[in-house]
Amino acid sequence: MIKSSNTVGHRATITRADRERLNGHRSVIVWFTGLSGSGKSTLAHAVEERLYELGCRAFVFDGDNVRHGLCGDLGFSRGDREENIRRIGELTRFFLEAGVIALTAFISPFAQDRRRVRELAGDGNFIEVYCRCPVEICEQRDTKGLYRRARQREIAEFTGISSPYEAPENPELVLSTGEAPLEACVEQVVACLRQRRVIAPAGNL
Ligand code: ADX
Repeated sequence: MIKSSNTVGHRATITRADRERLNGHRSVIVWFTGLSGSGKSTLAHAVEERLYELGCRAFVFDGDNVRHGLCGDLGFSRGDREENIRRIGELTRFFLEAGVIALTAFISPFAQDRRRVRELAGDGNFIEVYCRCPVEICEQRDTKGLYRRARQREIAEFTGISSPYEAPENPELVLSTGEAPLEACVEQVVACLRQRRVIAPAGNL
């Protein structure tokens, strides 16, 4: 719902196509989804590094960082998670217009919330990457000690323990982040971007 009535959008003279031409690659949203500890952030940042080396403009939005600022007013209830993902969806839409490859690392456990962002982005602009890692492995890793605290009921509504995770049904890419080495996962994402002509085929960059 829009509360700010009487506002009129300004049409930019420099278009997304102009910016993409300038950058030498297309813009897209690469949406990493998966449990806490499944490797989303690590992978998104590693892909960002690889794209930087290839001369592409990319930027990572990360749950833990965004929740310190833009989404600092939100918790982990169903409604707050929905709002978290909605804001990130709107944000990344601007990045599409800016000609940038937006890499997002949010648990985004609800299929409906992810579907809304996909629809907002439009055809061909949203690449869903499912970081598939069994909850047992995430819990074993427990890099932030949050699973232990969730088991002790110190943290409520923890995804995979006391709050659901709805795995994507038709993601563009599924990565076994519980077993595959990081580098192999990075290459799969880059190959997917080449295949979809977001970035140039190998050898052309
Ligand atoms: S999302 O569900 O709204 O997409 P988001 O990715 O922004 O979540 O934030 C998840 C991160 O917040 C986790 O990696 C973890 O570090 C932290 N966190 C704190 N409380 C919870 C919780 N109840 N459930 C899941 N993650 C939590």
